[in-house]
Amino acid sequence: MPDFNHLIQEDRVHRDLYTDENIFKEEMRKIFGAVWVYLAHESQIPENDDYIMSKLGLRPIIVTRDSGGTLRALYNRCTHRGATVCRKEQGSTKAFACPYHGWTFLNSGKLSGVPWPEGYADDFSDAKFNLAQVPRVQSYRGFIFGTLNLDAPSLEDYLGPARTPVDQWLDRHPGGKVAISNANRLKFSGNWKLAYDNSADGYHVIFSHRSLLAMENRLLTEDEKGMAFYKDKPDEAPMYVQYFGNGHHFKDKRPNIENRPGALWEIEGPHPGMEGYEEDLRARLGDKADRVLDIASSEPVNINIFPNLLILGNHIQVLQPVSMTETDTTWYGTAVIDEDNELEGAVDDVNAIRMRTQEGFPNFGEVDDLMNFEQIQEGLAAEEDEWVYMHRGLGVEGRITTDENGVITGPATDEVFMREYMKEYKRLMLSEPELKIEREVT
Ligand code: FES
Ligand SMILES: [Fe+2]
Repeated sequence: MPDFNHLIQEDRVHRDLYTDENIFKEEMRKIFGAVWVYLAHESQIPENDDYIMSKLGLRPIIVTRDSGGTLRALYNRCTHRGATVCRKEQGSTKAFACPYHGWTFLNSGKLSGVPWPEGYADDFSDAKFNLAQVPRVQSYRGFIFGTLNLDAPSLEDYLGPARTPVDQWLDRHPGGKVAISNANRLKFSGNWKLAYDNSADGYHVIFSHRSLLAMENRLLTEDEKGMAFYKDKPDEAPMYVQYFGNGHHFKDKRPNIENRPGALWEIEGPHPGMEGYEEDLRARLGDKADRVLDIASSEPVNINIFPNLLILGNHIQVLQPVSMTETDTTWYGTAVIDEDNELEGAVDDVNAIRMRTQEGFPNFGEVDDLMNFEQIQEGLAAEEDEWVYMHRGLGVEGRITTDENGVITGPATDEVFMREYMKEYKRLMLSEPELKIEREVT
């Protein structure tokens, strides 16, 4: 095993973290197996018998709400000869019939039948023939996580102080919830951690996303839309980065924006058709339009739940390692559900604008980031140049504070969140978790 105490130092990490196949393999066990990993959202499987495919690290998973209503994460791996039993992304079914030889499993994972059983000497009552499943599956306000580690803390404790911004992000919507809408699927040729390193990085914004900022502000004399608050001196602005423990970090840009109805909508970047929606909503709703338009606007936060769930703007982004140098990054839109008509009949308009915000950052900003990740992966091929520095803010007096709950806060461009999550990464890579699967008892 590599020496993680050498590879992860206070101010820098070694290139091996991004280029060593053995380390990647260990991560799939010690991280994407041993901590709570985001699998799916409850709104994607609202009814009993609904299912959606997912991954736990590289393990193919079917997240089901079984016929009795229990959330499960079944291994998509036939107990006969190993074929996937489910090959359709999402749907509703009481049973999965393996396409290879027709063994059939209930959506609880139990084997329900094999063709021509008289050809077998056993009666299949042994639980070893039921699909493997993730022993701990739990949801936090709709977000479903799973872990193979029986010693992991409760999901609530794992999320810890990160629950506060997640709660706030949900609570600004009617009924305190959202539904996941469809996805914008992107990928990059690079290690998954490059995206996680970047997810609270306020240092790169003004340089990497310059063309997006220019596009958002091209008709104005003053830059004021989108991420324009990063210009000049971002460290003196009231926004900040935070580290919550357990690898979770946060960038909060809300303090940069006035706390009044309409303020969020005023900085929203251009999207196709938004002027028409605005005009119509203002005519229909009068004074109430500002509040409704704010719900359509992107929330200026990045809430990063280690290792694979990023909640930002109106979207959630899921990081999925494919190989050491390949990562899927899927952006899901989120829709408002307005059961009590808090939006004065404007819920469809709000959701239409929210879908259009998918055409903003996820298309015109994310590509800048993905290019950076791919170019880092290329740069790191230079073997003898070993270190990656993440020491911005380190040793600068008065820059970083720690509160009584251990939450660490620094200015927007600080790399403190990266150094701290790397400490947790090191702790996990040095641990020896015991991973378990479960099978339904027959
Ligand atoms: S591999 Fe599934 S039935 Fe044979
Ligand atoms: Fe970025």
